Amino acid sequence: ATPDFRFDGRVALVTGAGRGLGRAHALLLAQRGAKVVVNDLGGTKEGEGSDAGPATDVVGEITAAGGIAVADTHDVGREEGCHALVETAVREFGRIDIVVNNAGISRFATFPEADAENLERTLDVHLRGTWHTTRAAWPHMVEQGYGRVVTTTSTGMLGLPDNLAYATAKGALIGFTRSLAVSAAPHGIRVNCLAPNAITRPSTSAAKPNITTTPVDEARLQAMQTGLVSPMMAYLAHEDCTVNGEILVAGANRFARWFLGITPGYLSAGEGVPTVEEIAEHWDEVNAQDGYYVPASLMDWAAKFMAHLAA
Ligand code: NAI
Repeated sequence: ATPDFRFDGRVALVTGAGRGLGRAHALLLAQRGAKVVVNDLGGTKEGEGSDAGPATDVVGEITAAGGIAVADTHDVGREEGCHALVETAVREFGRIDIVVNNAGISRFATFPEADAENLERTLDVHLRGTWHTTRAAWPHMVEQGYGRVVTTTSTGMLGLPDNLAYATAKGALIGFTRSLAVSAAPHGIRVNCLAPNAITRPSTSAAKPNITTTPVDEARLQAMQTGLVSPMMAYLAHEDCTVNGEILVAGANRFARWFLGITPGYLSAGEGVPTVEEIAEHWDEVNAQDGYYVPASLMDWAAKFMAHLAA
């Protein structure tokens, strides 16, 4: 029988849920029984300004469909905003089981244009927002011995030079997810990372200097709708989620694991310190992917990388 992945009795907080992927996440969680805090500051895609409209509209959609939700318009780019939105969940619904860190902004710039302000605001929303919101929810999750945290990275971090601060923040979230997952495990908390792929406001934006975007036709829009990402989010947010510290890619009907692998590498057998020339000579072995491994943890990596030191 197909398990019925429901969220009855669960309280979920979705940041940036007034539009795009966050909206789709909030609708799915609510449809499956969760009480949802729909957080959205409502600014432009670059993160300017604010508008209560998007969060309020999504709450309207959820309630019209018979679900339960409240709107929250705090800025996750500010630590006090993150604490306040977790307080909204606890005040309105009495607990917090699920945090989906989804809010994001996009400020296209690379070096030398990408300046401190670009970096800071991008890190504020994506990285510090995730950090502070999750940290604010943490004591509640530890106390109840249960929690599900989803962070949002991007395959853009594989190489998105025109959005350097964004790629930087998204890379940092992978380290955050994997390491927090280790602290989370003994408390019944799981922390996983979603790499979505859908056509939303940022991806249809015309304001991408130096980038030529292919015009989006209706068929492609349908094939890459936000709702096709949310089932993976819901799996990671569910009690029956089996993984912790993992990165999952979802979009356009494909669902995949994104992992960090390490090559067996070249082991110098020489006496003393290997020379630079020795490394250059063995470059192919350093890079050969045969027999690569995917460390389950830092200890697992250390055991494999330093296997030759084991007595
Ligand atoms: P979107 O712009 O449609 O939605 C993001 C929402 O976050 C907006 O409604 C915005 O008002 C809200 N938001 C922004 N800053 C906020 C703040 N400081 N506090 C509260 N809310 C804030 O963008 P989309 O595409 O739905 O993005 C959602 C997440 O998915 C982002 O983290 C994005 O980086 C990530 N992502 C999206 C991809 C895609 O293909 N659409 C690809 C990879 C990652």
